[in-house]
Amino acid sequence: MKNDKEPIVQIDKISKIYKSGRSFFKDSEKKIIALNQISLQIHKGEIFGLVGESGSGKTTAGRLIVKLEEPTAGKIYIDNNEISQLKGKELKDFRSRVQMIFQDPYQSLNPQLSVYDTVSEPMTIHNIGNAETRQDVVWEAMRSVGLSPPDDFFYRFPHQMSGGQRQRVAIARAIILNPEFIVADEPTSMLDASISIQIFKILLEIQKKLNATLLFISHNLAAARYLCDRIAVIYRGNLVELGPGRDVIKNPKHPYTQALIDALPKYVHGNKFKRYGTLLKEEREGSENVGCPFFRRCKVAHRTKCSRERPSLNRENDSHSVSCFYS
Ligand SMILES: Nc1ncnc2c1ncn2[C@@H]1O[C@H](COP(=O)(O)OP(=O)(O)O)[C@@H](O)[C@H]1O
Ligand SMILES: [Mg+2]
Repeated sequence: MKNDKEPIVQIDKISKIYKSGRSFFKDSEKKIIALNQISLQIHKGEIFGLVGESGSGKTTAGRLIVKLEEPTAGKIYIDNNEISQLKGKELKDFRSRVQMIFQDPYQSLNPQLSVYDTVSEPMTIHNIGNAETRQDVVWEAMRSVGLSPPDDFFYRFPHQMSGGQRQRVAIARAIILNPEFIVADEPTSMLDASISIQIFKILLEIQKKLNATLLFISHNLAAARYLCDRIAVIYRGNLVELGPGRDVIKNPKHPYTQALIDALPKYVHGNKFKRYGTLLKEEREGSENVGCPFFRRCKVAHRTKCSRERPSLNRENDSHSVSCFYS
């Protein structure tokens, strides 16, 4: 955990709007607001959690930050450089300093590349080292993700490995260039619980060793609490709460965060946590575009105020903030 609050990533009012539906019938084209004017900063050396249910815009946020996609509006800065402006050598440099680990290692690995080629490829692309030194670096990266002895795995292919092993390979590849910033997008959601814990431990070790900054994306608040210094909660593309991991779990302010806590399985929950009951069984009527984004599902909402006005993210105190009129 770090005390210095120097930002490495600054996200300034980013929105991402996808067009979906049958483009043949232009009128029926529907706009999906995957992210709605999100602003936040990620500090150097921290593990920052982005939490929300499926479809809330988490992957979109990760893909925008590593520049796999461009935002519809807003700006993203890494080390004070606006990433949409990066070109040529600067862009190549960015691609080596910023890495993403994807949810599904089977899709993210090239089935035709051996483990050795997969893990060493970024060094080839960035022209780093020679055949001999590369082998040492690959060996060490594979050892650090728990693929031991590394030589036994060099000439295997993705289909010859388990899901957990494949994700370890993807992590080894992501760390091979010593990145400063790593996005891990639900890296264990396809894996068993016991393997998930091992992967979390590896991520923690790597983050420490590289002194990297980690954006950990998850639908699971308990997992985020285990790993993260700070947690941001998003609901349908809107940032609703942001604070130290401990505060967000122990003292959730937003009715949606409270509903996420209620939804944690009992074995995590124990009887330690209060139950909040802030989620309506059935959505009430309301417009999607005016008022609080959570209005239709929020049990404690005020019928007029919350349906008409959109709360902004208030700083409760220096570090814990929430977008709710009644928190
Ligand atoms: N390429 C795309 N085209 C159209 N809609 C998309 C695309 N990618 C994501 N979406 C939509 O954007 C919203 C957010 O998706 P996503 O970022 O994948 O959420 P999460 O990772 O939290 O599950 C969803 O409604 C999803 O269907
Ligand atoms: Mg996702």
